[in-house]
Amino acid sequence: MKDPIFKDIRVSYIPDTKVEINKKTYLIHNVIDGEDITVDTTKKYPELKEVIKPSPYRIPYHMEECGGCNFQHVTYEYEQKLKRDYLNELFKPFKIKGGINLTPMEDYMNYRNKSIMTYKLSKQKKITCGLYEEYSHNIVAANNNILQAKKTNEVILQLNKILTKHKIQIYDEKTRTGVLRHVYIRYGFNSNELMITFVTNGENFPGRNNVITDIKKANLGITTIVQNINQRDTSIVLGDKERILYGPGFIYENVGEYKFKISPKSFFQVNTKGMEILYKKALENSGITKNDLVIDAYCGVGTISIYASKYAKHVYGVELNKNAIMDANINKKINNIENITFIADDATNYMTHLAKDRKHVDVVIMDPPREGSTKAFINAIKYLGARKVIYISCGPETLKRDLYQFSENGYQIKSIEGVDMFPRTIHCEVIAVLELAEQKKTSKPKTKIIYEDDDDDEIKELEELVRKYGTPDPKPHKK
Ligand SMILES: C[S@@+](CC[C@H](N)C(=O)[O-])C[C@H]1O[C@@H](n2cnc3c(N)ncnc32)[C@H](O)[C@@H]1O
Repeated sequence: MKDPIFKDIRVSYIPDTKVEINKKTYLIHNVIDGEDITVDTTKKYPELKEVIKPSPYRIPYHMEECGGCNFQHVTYEYEQKLKRDYLNELFKPFKIKGGINLTPMEDYMNYRNKSIMTYKLSKQKKITCGLYEEYSHNIVAANNNILQAKKTNEVILQLNKILTKHKIQIYDEKTRTGVLRHVYIRYGFNSNELMITFVTNGENFPGRNNVITDIKKANLGITTIVQNINQRDTSIVLGDKERILYGPGFIYENVGEYKFKISPKSFFQVNTKGMEILYKKALENSGITKNDLVIDAYCGVGTISIYASKYAKHVYGVELNKNAIMDANINKKINNIENITFIADDATNYMTHLAKDRKHVDVVIMDPPREGSTKAFINAIKYLGARKVIYISCGPETLKRDLYQFSENGYQIKSIEGVDMFPRTIHCEVIAVLELAEQKKTSKPKTKIIYEDDDDDEIKELEELVRKYGTPDPKPHKK
C-alpha cells in the first residue's frame, strides 16, 4: 500500500519542530512549512520519510543525522526569518518600536569552540564517538560535524585512530564499566591553542602515556591535555576531580583587544566571533559612564566585566562557580585592569544583601543561564536604584517572564534585539535594555508571573524594607 501524502503541512519551529498532521501535533525533524510529505509511522516516533513537494527554502543535508542541528535542511536566510518571526511573536506584548531585529553570523557553520564527544564501541568493536541525539541517549556519529570547528573535526579523526591503536577501553553506560566516557575539546580560534580533556570513569586510565605520546607525535596543535574523573551515573559530563596530563591545563583565547584564560570547567561562550558581536552590541551604546558603578551578574570568567570596565568607574562581577571566579581574577590581571572586583556568590544572594545594606548601583548587566533569573534578584535591582539594566539572555522565554517582573517594578523596556549566536540550531541570544522610569509613565503588561522563589524569605525582607523606607525613588539612591 502506498504511503499517504500529507499536503501543505504546517510546522512550528521554535522551541520545537512540531508538525501538524490531521489536526494532531508530532515532533518531526527536517520538515518545512508548506511541503507535501510522507511519514514513517512504524517507528516509535513518526519520522519524515519522503519530501514529495519540497519547499523553495530546502537545501541538501550536510549530514543525514546530527545531534545538534535543527536547521541544516533550510537556507540560512530562511532560518533567520524563522527566528526573527519567533522573537517578534514572543515579545509582542512589549510593543517594541520597529520590531525585533536579529543580527546574523557571517560564519554560520563550524563556529563552535567547544565540543563534547561521547564514546562507544560499535557492534564491530570499533571505537566511535558522536553527539547525543536530541531527546535521547543515542549517540549520532559526528565526523565532519557542521557546528564544531573544522580543526576539532580534524583532531577527532586522528584521535580516534590513536585511541583504537592503543585499545583504550570505552565506558559502557549500561554496565558502568570501562574507562573513556567523553572527550571534551576547547579550541581558541584566534590563539590557535587547543585543549583536550579525557573524561574517565575513575583515576585509572590504562594506555594514557601511549596516547599522549602519539598525540604529541601527530602534531595536531594540541597545547594541553587534562584528565577529568567522573564516576557518577549522570549525563553531566565533567566530574569534580582533574589531573593535568600535558601542558598548562588551560588555554588562552584572544577576543577583540582582550585575552582570556579558559579552563575545562569554566563557562565560555561557544561562538567566539559571535561573542565579540554580542558584547559590542550590548555595551557600545549602553550609556555607561566613568561615574557608573556597574554589576555584571552571572559573570562567568569575567568576559563582560572586562569589556564593561573600559566604560565604567568600577565593575562588580558576581558568579556562583568558584573556578570561574579564579579564572576571572587571572583574566583581570592579564588584561591589566584595576577597576573590577569579582565575587564568588549566588547572584540573588549577593544582590539582596547589597539591597538590604542600602547600597547603590547605576547599571546592572545580567547574563543568567537559560532558566533566567529570580524574582528576588529582579526586586533587589529596584532597591539598588539601578537606572539601567542590560539583560543578555540565551533563553528568550524566561527573559520574557523576567521582563514582566521588571515592568512590574517600574522599568521600561527600551529595546530588544536578537544576535544569532547559535546558527543552525533553534537557539539565539537576546539583548534587552531597560530603564528605570518615573512610576506614572510606566505601562505594565498585565500577566501573572510565577517564580519558583515566590515564597523566598529574601523577598519578604525586601518588602519589609519598602514598608520601612517607602517605594524607592526613581532617582538613584545616595552613593
Ligand atoms: C550564560 S552564562 C554567562 C557567563 C558570562 N556572562 C559570559 O558571557 O561568558 C551564565 C553563568 O551564570 C553562572 N550561574 C549559574 N547560576 C548562578 C547563580 N545562581 N548565581 C551566580 N551565577 C550563576 C554560570 O556558572 C555561568 O557562568
